[in-house]
Amino acid sequence: MIRPFEETDTDAVVALWTEAGVTRPWNDPVADIRRKTTTQPELFSVAVHDDRVVGTVMAGYDGHRGWIHYLAVAADLRGTGLGRALVERAEAALAALGCPKVQLQVRPDNPGVISLYEHLGYTRYEAVDLGKRLVEDG
Ligand SMILES: CC(C)(COP(=O)(O)OP(=O)(O)OC[C@H]1O[C@@H](n2cnc3c(N)ncnc32)[C@H](O)[C@@H]1OP(=O)(O)O)[C@@H](O)C(=O)NCCC(=O)NCCS
Repeated sequence: MIRPFEETDTDAVVALWTEAGVTRPWNDPVADIRRKTTTQPELFSVAVHDDRVVGTVMAGYDGHRGWIHYLAVAADLRGTGLGRALVERAEAALAALGCPKVQLQVRPDNPGVISLYEHLGYTRYEAVDLGKRLVEDG
């Protein structure tokens, strides 16, 4: 079952993200979750199997592009269709908001996932990512 994130999922989500390797030292996962609960919280979904959080996807629409972050599936359930279901859930929610295009970033240390995204219909585009921290976590 895929449903919206609930606050009581927090510890399980952080554990899943840690196991899946999607956390980064400069991102406090609890702070990221807390922020999402105040900004388009309905675009943060979890997959639940046997009362256990086994997948996540966090999406957002900025009025121009939709973004997907924190796609993760528990190691023992990968390859069973959950990743596709989570991506499609995010895409459907973004499309319902009128979002014309969804984008995502793949970290350089995770190139293996690129072919999976291509399989799901994503194509590469040339761009240089720039960022500026407005709030230091931790
Ligand atoms: C990426 C991840 C979420 C995928 O989840 P998953 O549940 O294994 O994905 P699915 O089983 O739904 O597979 C999705 C599709 O991709 C295909 N696929 C899987 N690996 C593939 C690969 N290396 N190349 C091409 N297609 C691939 C599957 O066959 C499936 O196709 P289908 O739906 O047409 O049958 C999971 O591997 C994960 O949590 N990885 C660690 C965290 C991570 O890297 N997240 C992404 C950060 S950018």
